[in-house]
Amino acid sequence: MLELTPDELLSTTRAVRKRLDLERPVERDVLEDCLRLAQQAPTGSYLQTWHFIVVTDPDLRAGLAELWRRGCDSYLDRRSVDDVEGMMGRVLAGVFHLRDHLHEVPVHVLPCIRGRTDGASAFRQASVWGSIVPAAWSFMLAARSRGLGTVLTTFHLAHEQEAAELLGIPYDEVMQAALIPVAYSIGTEFKPGVRAPLDSFVHWDRW
Ligand SMILES: Cc1cc2nc3c(=O)[nH]c(=O)nc-3n(C[C@H](O)[C@H](O)[C@H](O)COP(=O)(O)O)c2cc1C
Repeated sequence: MLELTPDELLSTTRAVRKRLDLERPVERDVLEDCLRLAQQAPTGSYLQTWHFIVVTDPDLRAGLAELWRRGCDSYLDRRSVDDVEGMMGRVLAGVFHLRDHLHEVPVHVLPCIRGRTDGASAFRQASVWGSIVPAAWSFMLAARSRGLGTVLTTFHLAHEQEAAELLGIPYDEVMQAALIPVAYSIGTEFKPGVRAPLDSFVHWDRW
């Protein structure tokens, strides 16, 4: 376990793409500890309708990586890496690095939730997504505290149905929320992200 205060854990759990150790395996019991902690997250239904698919099989990871690449390529133009400067350019370079190496990342974790929200009201959307995303984030925090790097990604969801077929997920009943690549991070020092000042997005009493 890393020696991080709660504030350090919350401020240094970054999107890790380039610093994922592709050679070092991740132990199953470490992943299970993270998943048990994820289960402690809030959920809209006491029935806890979430499911986590932990993918380690190389062929399945290659299949998911291909779907992710297709989602990424239709969303982002690779040439934009050279055109964009500063932080956004660095993020894009990281995204394209992950695009090229995702199949090599030792573990892909897919948080899923029972029930689909296609075309649903904001109330239902919020209730369903709000029942899985906190658990996914808790998993990522628990992973970080154990020296693992993660990044929440959604590119493969452009081809969610194909991913469901690949993994045997009942698509009509279960929705995938993300694909989280998981590997030990190369080094464990991460800095807090650059964020806007509070007064640019916090509203007291009124908008
Ligand atoms: C809903 C959501 C979807 C995301 N989808 C992707 C994705 O498909 N691919 C990717 O590389 N990163 C994805 N990210 C990661 C963000 O790019 C990342 O959280 C953001 O750049 C902030 O990074 P930082 O916390 O290290 O500053 C996603 C994040 C969220 C919250």
